[in-house]
Amino acid sequence: MQPAVPLFPEQASTVAARVDALYFFLLAVSGFFAGLIFFLIIYFAVKYRRRSESEPPPPRIAGDLRLEAFWTLVPLAITVVIFVWSAVLYVALARPPEDAMEIFVVARQWMWKFQHPDGQQEINELHVPAGRPIKLVMATQDVIHSFFVPAFRVKQDVVPGRYTTVWFEATKPGSYHLFCAEYCGTAHSAMIGRVVVLEPKQYEAWLGGALQTPEARLAGGARPAESLAAMGGKLFQRLGCATCHRLEGRGIGPVLAGLFDSEVRLQDGRTVKADESYLRESILNPQAKIVAGFQPLMPSFQGRVREDEIQQLIAYIKSLGPKVAGPEKR
Ligand code: CUA
Repeated sequence: MQPAVPLFPEQASTVAARVDALYFFLLAVSGFFAGLIFFLIIYFAVKYRRRSESEPPPPRIAGDLRLEAFWTLVPLAITVVIFVWSAVLYVALARPPEDAMEIFVVARQWMWKFQHPDGQQEINELHVPAGRPIKLVMATQDVIHSFFVPAFRVKQDVVPGRYTTVWFEATKPGSYHLFCAEYCGTAHSAMIGRVVVLEPKQYEAWLGGALQTPEARLAGGARPAESLAAMGGKLFQRLGCATCHRLEGRGIGPVLAGLFDSEVRLQDGRTVKADESYLRESILNPQAKIVAGFQPLMPSFQGRVREDEIQQLIAYIKSLGPKVAGPEKR
């Protein structure tokens, strides 16, 4: 039940109650000390008021070590509690579970675009199943935006030139507000949408194209002909990537099968992890990190591919093979 004047948004994700608990703790600590200080100011003002003109000033007090220690250690203890509690929560919010379902997000003036692994695309509307961790990999086509779903208690900036991620696990079906929480231009206030949480079965039906709104269909959402990786594969051919990045054997560029999530040795001796940000950078600014044993021959694709297309290419590269793992232990 929502009260007539909603003070707090609904708690609709697994972290919502934990975020609120910390918030209420901070509120209680602040409220307690604000009240205590107000009370003492008035109490002392009355108790130690000057009663007559002839009353002499009170004696000077030089200090009290026990008192000093008390009001130093108590705040220290409280702030350590706040720090540890917040840090634990922060780590939980910053690290998506391994089995999280990945959805790509592109923010731009002034809309949100979502790409599901199966190829569904949505504008300003995101359908997700309840009870399953969802990881969003987000990029922006222009300026900084911020992905904010109050009911999930998650907010993450979407920053030009890199991927940021946010994850949540919705707990109950429903429709929840999605806001852009970073001023991004004229229609910032209109950059809103909703996250629709469905029961897993309904979600399957939605994936099949049964529950889609006309807007979603316009965005190409209805029963996609191909997966995100397949779209990426087509782009890969169309942009001519396959000429140098051969699937088998050695081309002019590195082999991409099994690349994702592996460690890559660079010409300058550094080793980097081939995550989404690395792949994106290598597409837009290939000279930034040259793989050991290769020449800096790849042209930049800056301006030739959109952010949503880069995400399709990454989905394709991811699909090319699993992590290069050591021999299985038995
Ligand atoms: Cu996008 Cu504000």
